[in-house]
Amino acid sequence: MTVEALRPKGSGSIHPGTGASHARIWGLGGFRPERVVPNSELVEAIDSSDEWIQERSGIKSRRWAGPDDTVVSMSEAAARDAIAAAGIEISQIEAIIVSTVTHPYQTPAAAPIIADRLGLRCAAFDISAACAGYCHGISLANDMVRGGSAKFVLVIGVEKLTDFTDLTDRGTAFIFADGAGAAVVGPSDFPGIGPTIWGSDGSQWETIRQTESWLDVRDQGLGHPTIGMAGQSVFRWAVWSMAPVARQAIEAAGITPDDLDAFIPHQANMRIIDAMLKQLKLPADIPVARDIAETANTSAASIPLATERMLREGEIPHGGLALQIGFGAGLVYAAQVIVLP
Ligand code: UT7
Repeated sequence: MTVEALRPKGSGSIHPGTGASHARIWGLGGFRPERVVPNSELVEAIDSSDEWIQERSGIKSRRWAGPDDTVVSMSEAAARDAIAAAGIEISQIEAIIVSTVTHPYQTPAAAPIIADRLGLRCAAFDISAACAGYCHGISLANDMVRGGSAKFVLVIGVEKLTDFTDLTDRGTAFIFADGAGAAVVGPSDFPGIGPTIWGSDGSQWETIRQTESWLDVRDQGLGHPTIGMAGQSVFRWAVWSMAPVARQAIEAAGITPDDLDAFIPHQANMRIIDAMLKQLKLPADIPVARDIAETANTSAASIPLATERMLREGEIPHGGLALQIGFGAGLVYAAQVIVLP
C-alpha cells in the first residue's frame, strides 16, 4: 500500500495535537518520612558496622515510612508541595505519571488513586523504570506538554522500599529507604528540558529484581518477596556505563560541562557518584547531590528529593542548569539536562 492510499479522503483529516513550543519544570516537592534510622539500628541483623556502611556506600542514616505512610499518601504530600511550589492550582494538572516499584497492588496503578486524593479525574498512570523512573517521567511529561496531550503534568517518583526489603540481607538492608519526590512540568517560553538519553540492557535483568515472581510465590507457597541485588555487578555497570550516558545528555543539550550548575545523579552509592564525577570531568566546584548520606537509596524518589533539598537549602540556583541521571533495575537508565525551577 502506498502512503498516498493511506491519506484520509476529502476533509476527513485528523487535527494534529498542538502543544507548547517548550516545556520546563515549574516546581518541585518532596516528602521525607519522619522516622530517622541510623546505621546503628541495622547493623546487628546483617553483621555489619556503621564504619563499613559509611565507607562502602556513604550512607549514615535513612528515613523509614511509618505504618500510615503509603506510596499513595507519600505521593499526595509530595504532589501538594510541588504544585504549591509551581504556583498553579491543583485543577490545572491534566496528567499524572507515577514511577514506583513498591505500590503493593499489582493493579490498579497508584496514579489514579493519587489523582482522586487530589480531587482530580485526569489521565493518571504508573510507569516501572525503577531508579531511572523519575527521569523517564520527566521525558514523557516534556513530550506530552509539547505534543499537546496535557498542559501541566505531575511527575512523581515514590517508593516504600521497606515493604520489599529483607532486613537480614547484607546486600540491601542498609541501602533501601522510603520517600516521595514530585515535579510539575508545564509550558515554557524557552527549552527547560533537554533531550533525554535513555536505554536498557535487559540481559542483566536478574541483577536487581523481586526475589521470586508472584507465580512462584503462589505455586511454591513462598513468603513475601523482597528486592534482591547483585551489588557488585550493578556497581560495575553504573560506574562504567553511566558516565558516557551523562556525557551524551550534556552534548545533546548543546552545552558544555562548564555550563552546568548542578550534578544530580541517582543516589545509589556515594562511591558511584564520586566515580562518575571523576570520569565526567565536571567543574571542580560544581554542587553535587549527596543526599544519600541522610536519605539512602529511595529509587525513583532520589533525584527529585535531592534536587528539592538542594534548591531549598540554596545550594543550587533557580534557573541554573542541572544534569540528572537515573539508573537501576531492568537494567534501565535515563539522563537529561534541565533548567532548575
Ligand atoms: O539503585 C539501583 C542501583 N543500585 C546500585 O547502583 C548499587 C550498586 N552496588 C553497591 O552500591 C555496592 O555493591 C554495595 C554497597 C551494595 C556493596 O558494596 P561492595 O563494595 O560491592 O561490597 P561487596 O559485595 O563486594 O562485599 C565486600 C566485602 C565482602 O567480604 P570479603 O569477601 O571481601 O571478605 C562481603 O562479604 O564486604 C562484605 N560485606 C559486608 N560487610 C559488612 C557485604 N555486605 C556487607 C555488609 N556489612 N552489609
